[in-house]
Amino acid sequence: MQKNKIIGSLIGLAVGDALGAAYEFKRPPYNINENYITGGVHNVSIGEWTDDTSMALCLAQSLIDKNGFDTKDQMDKYLSWYEDGYFSTRSECFDIGNTVARALASYKNTDEPFSGIAGDNNSGNGSLMRLSPIALYYYQDKEALIKYAAQSSQITHKSELAVDVCIYYAQLIAGAVKGYSKEELLSNEFIDTKDMRKEVINVMKGSYKEDKVYKPTGYVIDTLETALMAFYRFDSFEDGLLHVISLGYDTDTVGAVYGQLAGAFYGHNGIPKKWTNALIKYNLLYSTAEELYNNSSVQKVNFNDEMHKKIHILVGDITTINSDVIVNAANYRLLGGGGVDGAIHRTGGSKILDECKFLRKTRYPDGLFTGPAVATTAGNLKAKYLIHTVGPKYRFDSNHVELLESCYKNSLMLADDYKCESIAFPSIATGIYAYPKDEAAKIAYTVINKLLVNTRYIKDVVFVFYSQEDANIFKKSNHIK
Ligand code: APR
Repeated sequence: MQKNKIIGSLIGLAVGDALGAAYEFKRPPYNINENYITGGVHNVSIGEWTDDTSMALCLAQSLIDKNGFDTKDQMDKYLSWYEDGYFSTRSECFDIGNTVARALASYKNTDEPFSGIAGDNNSGNGSLMRLSPIALYYYQDKEALIKYAAQSSQITHKSELAVDVCIYYAQLIAGAVKGYSKEELLSNEFIDTKDMRKEVINVMKGSYKEDKVYKPTGYVIDTLETALMAFYRFDSFEDGLLHVISLGYDTDTVGAVYGQLAGAFYGHNGIPKKWTNALIKYNLLYSTAEELYNNSSVQKVNFNDEMHKKIHILVGDITTINSDVIVNAANYRLLGGGGVDGAIHRTGGSKILDECKFLRKTRYPDGLFTGPAVATTAGNLKAKYLIHTVGPKYRFDSNHVELLESCYKNSLMLADDYKCESIAFPSIATGIYAYPKDEAAKIAYTVINKLLVNTRYIKDVVFVFYSQEDANIFKKSNHIK
């Protein structure tokens, strides 16, 4: 799920940029074509994107190359685009904004990456248009997300308005990647507006819902308001983007801004094939987004608190967790399946299946019963071991409470026997085996809390949920804040 959304956001940015590019600076009303067209101020080709996407690719590549946020490397890549056409669709850079050009010229002279120009009159959308990679890389770490959304703007756009819009919009994109609904994303409570400029709060509180004439200029507040209006009013990636492009003015950038949020919300699968198939350098964009996903989604849980044993609750794909042990919600055959089982075998690779087949030939000729736990290699996963356990089928196993308790108990103690210090659990039995999530939550949390005091090596237990909603059910069921 997250991967589809992460790829959707970067591709959505490029599609919005490319579709809008031929209409840049036009004044409405005018007819628009539902497919890419050539022409415009930069005489673009079919599916050709501009500076918005070039800078987003520079930012994405920097995050990947540097394993995180590096202002100097970002500015070096932006300068390489400006001077040598790095990540441009052409051999040279084209369609660069004034504020970016001035910041890059200043950086070239001073070697100071924070070369953004401050002041409300420098509040262009040039840092917002490339923002997506920050949200995609840090969507699981709110503190880092806010910090680097701000800094990614300040290196070229120090204006408080540009910075605050980036802080706001990065959290919207991250929330969309995590699967929040549109109502949740657009609710007044979704973002902490403390210290934000009133112009940004005014949009956030709903100015984009007003029935008025929208004028999507390069001013960052206009861009934000128009992109949110289209995201709010329409129910598909396509309809929202076509509406944005029909409004004229800074059509490529407002398209790119809308596309990065809508692409994260509707996912790559929600972007019409007629646009992705004709997008220039689509494979480059797709593979860059995939690398962002692979690098960003490793949830670096801080397993370094020597003193205290801790229980963590995370939202994401369990195959990306950097714990010593990952627990698989298997079935008795031990030969793979759907859900978590499928994800683990897909990502972990064939070594896991080979060991499972050996277990079936030796210790478990009739399969693994419900409740016990058995360890194998974790294959390509970041963990040291995989522990397989088979959850109870809620409607079939009458003693499902004891069986589910055994799954958690046996997995935890086996991990401890293997001298592991951290273990990640999925929500066992609550998918295909239909165990009610709230009932399972209480059982899992009670068993782990009771046993964790007795473990010799295990210090960290991570409960991993595939959606924020499931994590909220777990917390609510166990009265966790
Ligand atoms: N990471 C984290 N959680 C996930 C993932 C993932 N990659 N994929 C699914 N989940 C969640 C589901 O949303 C559900 O809440 O894990 C929970 C358990 O779902 P299942 O995988 O369906 O496991 P279970 O209910 O125990 O049923 C086991 O399903 O996967 C097959 O082969 C398995 O037949 C067995 C059955």
